[in-house]
Parts: sequence; structure tokens; C-alpha cells
Amino acid sequence: MSKQRVRLDADRMSDEGEKLLSFLQERIKGQDDAIKDIVKADEMSRSGLLQPDRPIYAGLFLGPSGVGKTLTAEMLAEYWFGSRSAFTKVSCEAMSEPHGISSLIGSPPGYVGFHSPKDKEGSAPILAQSRIDRHDLRCVKDQEEIKKLLSDLDDQLRKLDKEIDSVARAGFKDPKSHDRLIKLQDEQDSLEKETRKLLLRLRDRQRSYRSIILFDELEKGNETLHNLLLTIIDKGKLTLANGMITDFTRSVIMLTSNVGSKEIASLIGNKKIGFAASAQAGEDEALNDEIYRRAKKAAQDRFRPELLARMDRISVFRPLSSSVIREIMDAELKRFVDEMKGLFKISLIIGDEVCEHILNEALDKPQEGARLLRRKINSNLREPISRLKLRNMLPQPGGKLYISLQDKKVIFSK
Ligand SMILES: Nc1ncnc2c1ncn2[C@@H]1O[C@H](COP(=O)(O)OP(=O)(O)OP(=O)(O)O)[C@@H](O)[C@H]1O
Ligand SMILES: [Mg+2]
Repeated sequence: MSKQRVRLDADRMSDEGEKLLSFLQERIKGQDDAIKDIVKADEMSRSGLLQPDRPIYAGLFLGPSGVGKTLTAEMLAEYWFGSRSAFTKVSCEAMSEPHGISSLIGSPPGYVGFHSPKDKEGSAPILAQSRIDRHDLRCVKDQEEIKKLLSDLDDQLRKLDKEIDSVARAGFKDPKSHDRLIKLQDEQDSLEKETRKLLLRLRDRQRSYRSIILFDELEKGNETLHNLLLTIIDKGKLTLANGMITDFTRSVIMLTSNVGSKEIASLIGNKKIGFAASAQAGEDEALNDEIYRRAKKAAQDRFRPELLARMDRISVFRPLSSSVIREIMDAELKRFVDEMKGLFKISLIIGDEVCEHILNEALDKPQEGARLLRRKINSNLREPISRLKLRNMLPQPGGKLYISLQDKKVIFSK
């Protein structure tokens, strides 16, 4: 009797994947396609089913300013390593300056900027393994632990050296001193073996750290930088000027560019880049396809086909519709209210008209995308509240601070 086959559901996300997806969706609004790719990359990196000679993921993020491209790197860093700045950011524009590339990969021996593996980590080139891995907290913990063990071993070896030296100097008149020397040398051998083992362990562990590298404003990078990127994405590794090799097979590589944003803006019939003209834009399938096509075309005109062909995905970040901007504002305000509760134990009661006022101000410069929103929350709420705090005018812990609008000005009362 043949055994019944069980159909396996490979479409369903893993629980970990679902968790990351909802984490990102809560924080990055209206960019689900790009986010889902990141989740797939995360699942691959967890499963161990990585391609041996490629980064975990290499994606090009296109789209206007202030719509969540950099935010995506920040949020993955927050999820993986607990801090939104725990990733390596390379400004492609700066890399086109004369010393740009050497700050990335170092200089050859004999030149200013040469970095020997024994030098301090801070002086290592930006793309050195130790620099890209240092955001992975496991890396920091492991390195501290292993460095401590190595330094203990080093102390013991030094002591032994001295002892061996003094036994040898005393000569071998005493027959026992010969045996003693052999014993000390055996001990020295085993400590050296232990040191080698630890160094190997360190190298092995290095193969399991994850990293995120964001190359910002790719269109401003020069030919040398683009070639370097080709190598990283194609081979999953890069030889630095000092001969050391950086492994990128556990890296997520994100490249961002604004090319095509003008085309997108004209497509949605709005010179105001950053926002869709109507609340529906972004939900309209045909329009979405056209946005994607135009942005991709602009990228094809600007970047070399070899580079584009090596991307796992070209994601086009959409202009944010006003309803998405409103959602972002609600989330930002909620975070602010929670922060005040945590800091001063006061409840903020924010009137709807205040929210409308902040939203209108934030929509004032659409070319900045959602970037203006945080600044407007700061100028309308954070700054005045900190002033009230310094002048001891905030309600007592447990109290309420009422925020309303009068003559287009935000006012506070308790
Ligand atoms: N989709 C979004 N969801 C939530 N917040 C967003 C979104 N897009 C932008 N923001 C807010 O705006 C800020 C700036 O966005 P971000 O840094 O991602 O811009 P960008 O797309 O990288 O633009 P640029 O091309 O100018 O670098 C974010 O830190 C966040 O506060
Ligand atoms: Mg950015």
C-alpha cells in the first residue's frame, strides 16, 4: 500500500516572518511590497538556506524623498539589533570625492590610511568585516568574551616565557631543571593551541553575524563605486586594500535612489513630489503598475544593466497618499503621548483640530514626503512642552495636559 503524500503549504509565512512583517507594517506605512521582500530575506537568513556567493538580499529602492526608503533599513536594524542606527550607511555622493573609496576599502600598504588587522577597529575601513558586523549584538558579546579569554591566555603565556627563560639561563646543573623545562614547554604548547582554537572560533562566529548596509543616493556614486558594488553583490565578498576579505553573504544590501521621482510625480498629475494627488493613488492597480514601469525605466536609463540585473528586487516606494500620511501622523502622535506618559506620568489630551492643524502644516511641502511631519510634531508639541517642563508648569504626575487650537495656534491648559 503506497503511503499517502501530504501536501506542504509553502506559501504560508513562518511565525517569525509574520512577526517581522507586522513590526515593519506598523512602522512603515503604505510600502507593503518592499517590506514583504525584506521579510522573505529575513526568513532565508534564518533558515540557513543562503546562496553561498551572494548577499542575503540586494535590493534597489526607488521613489521620491521622505517615503520610507531609509526608514526600511532603520526598522530592520531596530528589529534585528535593537537600534535604528545599527546599520552601515554609505553616502554614494561622498564616495565620489577623491578619498571616498579609500575610506570604504582602505589604502594599500605604504599609503596614508593603510589599516593593518592589528590596528584599532575604529580606524578600519567602512567595509571591513569588523565594522559591518559590529552592529550585531552577538558579535559584540562574543568578541568581548573571546577577547577576555585571549588576554588571559596572553598573560599566562608571558609568565611562562619568563619562567622558561630563567630556567634556561640557570643552566642544567640540576638534573631536575631539564625536566622542568620540558614541562613548561609542554604547557606553553597547549596554551598556544588553545589560543589558535579561540581565534578560529572567532572566525567561525564571524560567519554567522548579520549586517545591513545601505548605499544612499546611488545615482551620485561614480563608476568605481558601482564596480565595487557589482563585486559585492555578484561574489558576496570584497578584497580590501590591505588584502583582508570581507564576507557579505550574511548582509542585506539596500541601494536607494530618487531617479524616476519626477516621472512618478508627473504621472500622478502632481508636481508635488512625495504625495499622491488623491487618496486613492497607491491603491489603484493600473496606476501602481505604471508608476513601477516608469521608475524602472528611469533606473535603466541611469544605471548599468549588469548592476540592475544583479538585484534581487527593484522596489518602487510609492508617493504617500494623504490617508497614509494621516496614519503616519496618528502613529507618531501615539508614540509621543506614550513617551510623555512614561517620562512625566502625564496624559496628553490632544484635540482633533490640533491633529488637523499639524497635518495641514506637514502637507505643506509635499516634496519632503513624511519628513516634515516629525518636525511639525516637534515645533507644535515637543518644543512648547519641554519649555513648560523647564518652567515647572506641567501638571503633577497623574494629571492631564489639554492641547487645543486658538487662532491657528496650539495652546496648552491643565
Ligand atoms: N512610509 C512611511 N511610514 C512611516 N513613516 C514614514 C514613511 N516614510 C517616511 N516616514 C517618516 O519620514 C522620515 C523620513 O523618511 P526616509 O528617511 O525613509 O526618507 P527616504 O525615502 O529615504 O527619502 P530620501 O530619498 O530623501 O532619502 C522617516 O524617518 C519617518 O519618520
Ligand atoms: Mg533616505
